[in-house]
Amino acid sequence: MDQLLSSPAIIHGLHKVEARIRRLSGSSTLPGISAGAERVVAAGGKRLRPALTLAASIALGKAPDRRVITAAACVELIHAGSLVHDDLMDRATERRGARTLNAELGDGKALLIGDFMLARAGLAAITAVSRPVAEVLAATVVELAEGQYLETTDLFNADRTRENAFRSITGKTAALFRAGCLVAAVCAHASPEDRARMAAYGEKFGLIFQILDDLLDLTATSEQLGKPAGNDLRQGVYSLPVLLADADVKDLLGRPEQVDEVLRRLRASRMADTTIEYCRGLASDAVAALPVIHDREMATLLYGLPTAYIDRVAATASLTAVS
Ligand code: FPP
Ligand code: MG
Repeated sequence: MDQLLSSPAIIHGLHKVEARIRRLSGSSTLPGISAGAERVVAAGGKRLRPALTLAASIALGKAPDRRVITAAACVELIHAGSLVHDDLMDRATERRGARTLNAELGDGKALLIGDFMLARAGLAAITAVSRPVAEVLAATVVELAEGQYLETTDLFNADRTRENAFRSITGKTAALFRAGCLVAAVCAHASPEDRARMAAYGEKFGLIFQILDDLLDLTATSEQLGKPAGNDLRQGVYSLPVLLADADVKDLLGRPEQVDEVLRRLRASRMADTTIEYCRGLASDAVAALPVIHDREMATLLYGLPTAYIDRVAATASLTAVS
């Protein structure tokens, strides 16, 4: 991830993407909506999804033009808008070190600003990119909502299956990574096969990203996370690492008063190793899906990204699991 985000070509493109994100966020006729949306995007984030869009575009032989830059900005705006909704649902008061919109402005205004961000991305995609790209993004928002909905239907469900957890994260997270890569391939007029290959790469990487985020929620300390450790468990989200673990926790799930004991057992189990191994399988699927890439730098970056990301989290997860 660090290599991707420190590539001069990607940094150059991300500067333009950033300007586009700011312009779109601040484009409401109502100053209150603009200020709220601008606050959310200014709070930070790594801009990983638009970076992937740029890398996929260059990899497919298309230097990022105005359309690719706008498409990448739309992807990030959808991500940020969905986090506004997520914070509202979670009743979170802080994200990325800043107060959430729901904490600052109340639920109603936060909801509408999140809606604005999603809708504004759709409008920009249809007016400033292309109909096929707008279609990909609209379908992705549908998947986001469905993936998140599936999570809510399984809250505190001690019998949640791995398949259900997998389906939920495929929708709520992997779909947008997939879309980030697919819109690049669409803008690059790639062949149907290369589109499908880039999309599959994005989806597999998105799955890795979410599974490792879920793992860190269970293994990292509250200080490392900037939020209470085991937050997902406390909220009744039994994520894939919990369901992959061989720890004897099943009887304790669904009982909020047992969260600390569940965490203790999970941390004493092989959960971190099992989850990392699972992600390594996804990483080899991701890399196998990639199309032929002639640009040497982007080939190296895209081939190396899944494993580099897993290695980085593995170092943190195993350190925290023994402490
Ligand atoms: C963060 O994950 C949340 C998401 C990746 C997706 C949220 C999607 C929605 C709320 C649906 C959005 C609605 C529309 C209409 C698109 P997380 O909660 O696991 O991570 P966190 O620790 O960052 O909160
Ligand atoms: Mg959340």
